[in-house]
Amino acid sequence: MKICSFGSLNLDHVYRVKAFVRPGETISARSQQDVCGGKGLNQSIAMARAGAKVYQAGNIGQDEAGKMLKSALENANVHTDYLRALPMQSGHTIIQVSDEGENAIICFGGSNQAVDDEQVETVLSAFQPGDLLVLQNEINHLDVILRIAREKGMKIAMNPSPITEGLEKLPLENCDILFVNELEAAYLCGSEKGDLQALAGRFPHAMLVFTQGSRGAQVWHEGKVYTQNAYKVRAVDTTGAGDTFTGYFLTALCEGKDIQDCMKLAAKASAISVSRPGASVSIPLRDEVDAFRPGE
Ligand code: RIB
Repeated sequence: MKICSFGSLNLDHVYRVKAFVRPGETISARSQQDVCGGKGLNQSIAMARAGAKVYQAGNIGQDEAGKMLKSALENANVHTDYLRALPMQSGHTIIQVSDEGENAIICFGGSNQAVDDEQVETVLSAFQPGDLLVLQNEINHLDVILRIAREKGMKIAMNPSPITEGLEKLPLENCDILFVNELEAAYLCGSEKGDLQALAGRFPHAMLVFTQGSRGAQVWHEGKVYTQNAYKVRAVDTTGAGDTFTGYFLTALCEGKDIQDCMKLAAKASAISVSRPGASVSIPLRDEVDAFRPGE
């Protein structure tokens, strides 16, 4: 089974601040760093570090950022055969990380928003029924990708993040696995609070992975609910922790592990990621995750 991660790649401009800037305010950053990120790239690197063979599809710009993003994937052993370099600016973000380790992100889509019919056809024609397609919500043309992948019989896992206008109109019922946090669950169910049961009512045929940050995660599958607490660590930077969870969970699932073991491995990996700065650079190797002894 091949894994295709069709998603975003961003150069993250990360600013460490005491607290997030407020309207009308100017603040000084404690430090600044540029790191490779984007939910697509992060999830691909998480799967590769967990031990999976992954093909990244998507678009970078023909600029310095594009070169950095491509090398980050290659250094992590992610295949870049389906990555396109276009004469435009690569995607980037401005990220504030507070002393509590929380983040606030502005995303500029750039080349991530230049997916077209031809690219979707070319990329998906390289995959077979049963191959896994991993998606997030930082690229355009997702309606087309979801439709063609379903017609081809690919298994589709999607993390519909971040919430954008019209997200609820995507054919998310084509997904076999959905990774959603509380805000996304609330948005997709049209309710005030994210609720796993309501989500299960809306997507009864999918495996639902409901992430709740420091409170852990729940999985709904075929009417059964599985629970995993988050491991307690000192939060340095939560950026990319959800992507780490997704990548590790999917890799473990592809290895045939049971749902509870997938959640445990993913929770350990994301705990390690939270304890380190940066997005893709904070994603641990499988050996580190296996050696992680919570509480030690
Ligand atoms: O999920 C974290 C990622 O979200 C960051 O790396 C940033 O690029 C944004 O896309």
